[in-house]
Amino acid sequence: MAVSSTQTDSISTGTNQNSHHIKNRSAYDDQVVKLFLIATVIWGFVGMLVGVLIALQLPFWPANMGEYLTFGRLRPLHTNAVIFAFAGNAIFAAIYYSTQRLCKTRMYNDLMSRIHFWGWQGIIVSAAITLPLGISTSKEYAELEWPIDIAITLVWVVFAFNFFGTLRVRREKHMYVALWFYIATIITVAVLHLGNSLAIPWAAMHSYPIYAGVQDAFIQWWYGHNAVAFFLTTPFLGLMYYFLPKAAERPVFSYRLSIVHFWSLVFIYIWAGPHHLNYTALPEWAVTLGMVFSVMLWMPSWGGMINGLFTLRGAWHKLRDSVVLKMFVIGITFYGMSTFEGPLLSIKSVNALSHYTDWTIGHVHSGALGWNGFMTFGMIYWLLPRLWKTKLWSNRLANAHFWIGTIGILVYVISMYTAGITQGLMWRAFNEAGRLLYPDFMETVIQIIPMYWARMIGGSMYLVGVVLMMINVYQTIKLAPKERKDPVIDLPAGSGALGTA
Ligand code: HEM
Ligand code: HEM
Repeated sequence: MAVSSTQTDSISTGTNQNSHHIKNRSAYDDQVVKLFLIATVIWGFVGMLVGVLIALQLPFWPANMGEYLTFGRLRPLHTNAVIFAFAGNAIFAAIYYSTQRLCKTRMYNDLMSRIHFWGWQGIIVSAAITLPLGISTSKEYAELEWPIDIAITLVWVVFAFNFFGTLRVRREKHMYVALWFYIATIITVAVLHLGNSLAIPWAAMHSYPIYAGVQDAFIQWWYGHNAVAFFLTTPFLGLMYYFLPKAAERPVFSYRLSIVHFWSLVFIYIWAGPHHLNYTALPEWAVTLGMVFSVMLWMPSWGGMINGLFTLRGAWHKLRDSVVLKMFVIGITFYGMSTFEGPLLSIKSVNALSHYTDWTIGHVHSGALGWNGFMTFGMIYWLLPRLWKTKLWSNRLANAHFWIGTIGILVYVISMYTAGITQGLMWRAFNEAGRLLYPDFMETVIQIIPMYWARMIGGSMYLVGVVLMMINVYQTIKLAPKERKDPVIDLPAGSGALGTA
């Protein structure tokens, strides 16, 4: 069965003369999609600006300016901003836009949509204030203290109610695969957040985790790894399955493969966390389990990549003119690269070389800049003219963004691979007497300083691309006609699956 988002979503833009024959009519709530989209662009800029600053702080210590703006304080600010603010707002924009189309109905409750949007921005602002102040649980990607954790839980529950409410009142029987990826995201992120954040509040902004020692580490990396899986992967796969067929005007290559991809991915991902704790106090069997599941993850991940790239069969020529497709192709290719590299890194003997080195940072940013960043940019360039009912202000500028961003990623990751492998090899080098060849840690650091400068340049190029996109977003919105009609869904009451009845 070949089903595509193109098929499952047919809307008209309003003035339908036969409207009196149509029972079910409601306008989509695109206002909230616009809000999430604008927030994505703004937070993306802020988060990556902080990324460039911390990239500068490593080779150039005077850039650590006072207590609040040191590397140690700004690093978690960067990770929180890019993951939860940039990628977070992007996936919400994708979910709110596509869910309404795939369910052929407006979001269940407008107020809930607004609470979700403003609540999430409030959480981001509180992170931006508390992290530089040094208020942190010190758990990576879960640094925010308990009052903010409670706020996250409440906002997530509102989001879940709104999303599942929409599914309940949907007017399209078939649930397209993108929706399954969103469901997995919403449920699993809730479970992860609750599980890892359990803590005993000690003061207004201080708490102790209920876990201790190795259990704490284990739960933390069950969370940390699955934050990558269910925040940076599954929602972006949903995004891919919806927006790629739309942009390519082709049905997804294999719908069957997308279902196999979904179930195998969610089943396998959840077990892979221990690969972050190789050679620690975690029992050997647990680490081996994590490694085996990580290697198995290669298959569904590449199944997804192949399904994405093959969707473009017969449409490759469209890449010449479509910056959206170009962005998606680079995004999916980096997904393939980072999910090939991940299983490799999880193998104990490889991890013995890579762990604690910049190789990990290279891996992270091939996924983050390539996969998350470029899928987001592709979606933004696709949505902009449609949401604001106008043309993209400048295709040339978007193309410039594409090229400077792509080169930026390459400079970033190649410099980090070089730095990582250099560090790893130097740390394990012995002299003839069996002593460490480089006992002074500083020696290994000095060796990689040029690589840190190169990363700074690559990161800055990527950021310049984002600035070009901001200009395009601003100008396109300025072009938008002032009087706009909301899109209206025209669907005969009681229509069957895929809107074909
Ligand atoms: C202009 C773009 C960016 C620059 C210059 C940049 C720079 C950096 C730097 C310098 C670090 C610290 C590395 C270290 O501790 O040695 C870092 C960490 C990190 N960044 Fe970025 N970054 C950028 C964009 C992004 C984006 C878009 C994402 C995610 C969507 C991201 C996710 C992360 C994560 C998860 C870490 C922590 C990695 C780890 O702990 O292993 N970054 N980044
Ligand atoms: C098949 C899929 C993947 C597997 C098996 C995998 C495996 C791994 C492994 C083994 C590490 C190194 C752990 C260490 O030595 O400390 C790692 C780190 C990391 N990976 Fe992946 N990876 C995969 C895909 C991805 C993707 C697509 C992204 C981003 C979108 C990503 C983001 C990260 C991050 C942020 C870290 C650093 C965590 C930290 O130490 O702070 N991974 N991954």
